Amino acid sequence: MFITFEGIDGSGKSTQIEKLRNRLEEKGALVDVYRDPGGPVVSEQIREILLNPDFEINSVTELLLFSAARSQLMAENVLPGLKEGKVVILDRFFDSTTAYQGYGRESVSLQEIHNLNTIASHKRKPDVTIYMKLSLTDAKQRMAKIKDRMELSGDEFFEKVIAGYNKLADREDRFFTVDATEPVSKVHKRIWKHIKKRYEY
Ligand code: TMP
Repeated sequence: MFITFEGIDGSGKSTQIEKLRNRLEEKGALVDVYRDPGGPVVSEQIREILLNPDFEINSVTELLLFSAARSQLMAENVLPGLKEGKVVILDRFFDSTTAYQGYGRESVSLQEIHNLNTIASHKRKPDVTIYMKLSLTDAKQRMAKIKDRMELSGDEFFEKVIAGYNKLADREDRFFTVDATEPVSKVHKRIWKHIKKRYEY
């Protein structure tokens, strides 16, 4: 089973991923968790480049670097894990590229982003995507003070990213949207109910 979490920074993805991992492991599942961009050494190094505020990165270069990091994560970790029957959970995946580089940066057309996402994911789509929905106002109250390169992008950019996520959530059946302002335990209950129902754990 391949599960991804999406949402802007501050939406509580990491907390919910840990809770879901614990719940699945209690039920006897083997669970691997990775962050995208990240995982293998190559992808972690690309991540450092991408998030370094000292670099000015062209929007197409940025798109290709996120895609390159993802391809390596798929090849080294995600696809082998799924083949072994593990549950693989990712903190972000190609929907982040659609929201940030597509709707946010408007780097290239959405069709081109879609094609690149297919290539970078080695044609594997998530079975379920949990979308932690949060407004920019709420996110700002939760955000860390030290910002990485992406987080320095400004309000207008983040409003476009959120609008992009909301469009994806309306369009894609694999999306399950939760209100990220609800208490942690309530959000977890909703997510677990959804996963349990679909996969009979
Ligand atoms: P993280 O801090 O949530 O791991 O994500 C790193 C940042 O990179 C975050 O601001 C979202 C952004 N991002 C993109 O712009 N495009 C992508 O494809 C991915 C995966 C993340």
